[in-house]
Amino acid sequence: MAESRPKVWVSQPLFDDIVERLHAHFDVVRVPDVSEHDASAIANALREADGALVTLNERIGSDAIADAPKLRAIANVGVGYNNLDIDALQARDIVATNTPDVLTETTADFGFALMMAAARRVTEAERHLRAGQWHGWNFKGLLGADLHGSTLGILGMGRIGQGIAKRASGFDMRVIYHNRSRLPADVEREFNASYVDFGTLLAQADHLILVLPYSAASHHIVDAAALAKMKPTATLTNIARGGIVDEAALADALSSGRLASAALDVFEGEPTVDPRLLAQGNIVLTPHIGSGSLATRRAMVALAVDNLIAALGAGPDAGHPSSVIAPAADDGKAAKRPGTA
Ligand code: DGY
Repeated sequence: MAESRPKVWVSQPLFDDIVERLHAHFDVVRVPDVSEHDASAIANALREADGALVTLNERIGSDAIADAPKLRAIANVGVGYNNLDIDALQARDIVATNTPDVLTETTADFGFALMMAAARRVTEAERHLRAGQWHGWNFKGLLGADLHGSTLGILGMGRIGQGIAKRASGFDMRVIYHNRSRLPADVEREFNASYVDFGTLLAQADHLILVLPYSAASHHIVDAAALAKMKPTATLTNIARGGIVDEAALADALSSGRLASAALDVFEGEPTVDPRLLAQGNIVLTPHIGSGSLATRRAMVALAVDNLIAALGAGPDAGHPSSVIAPAADDGKAAKRPGTA
């Protein structure tokens, strides 16, 4: 009797020509539509699965895997993995992987674009024009802030933060950063970036950008007290995870003029956006598209597919997926957990 092939679940429609590669090794269950699977749908999908390709739309914790005895690998299509309960996966020896590096430059491009849009009020100006409110060239209308010659503050100086620092040098910006740990001197030199404490970062940045991973420690790290330390002329850009910012405090700071403007690509209750933010004119709002260039989204899926094949012991890298977040306990290797995005 033919041996049954491992089963994998693909939680979202990704790129068919890339996902197709899974069929060479596994029986694949794919969903036809983009969906936010609820907890019971995820548990159901994982019940018979040996592995799964998932996105940030799927929250996978102990409940989801409790009744999935065969599950050995979860390949996350994304660098951030706060949708996965890594401790729960590790306790079950389930390997988890993510997709770092391939999205670094694209996400840094987008962070810079958002920061510029907030500083120069690009979307606000467009709304003004589309609403028929432009009645002639106005010398003092919609004045913004410069990026060139200003101080850029980067909170989270991992790969994407460094990509943003690299771009900032072309704009003659002074770069300061704060990170869990200070970078080696040669890396600071390479990016022309100076380490400062969190309070100094807040106080000195003309433009503050958030690129740190979301965790219990970074939850609402930008709260009312932090916003109060920022310059009233400053901008705040978040391309990391929504929960890093206290959105109610941000809405207050924007409406009271405590902060000049903001740009958010991520939200605490995605896809719901706090109505207090939607009500502000001086904010750029985008639907979590930081890594969303076609080439990069394809590269993320390709890496996740390779990771899943390898994690389930097939393909050329059998047993050695790259970018492991939670290696199986008997693997003998320390878990590689990227400190920053
Ligand atoms: C990531 O990779 O973490 C992004 O936020 C999703 O594209």
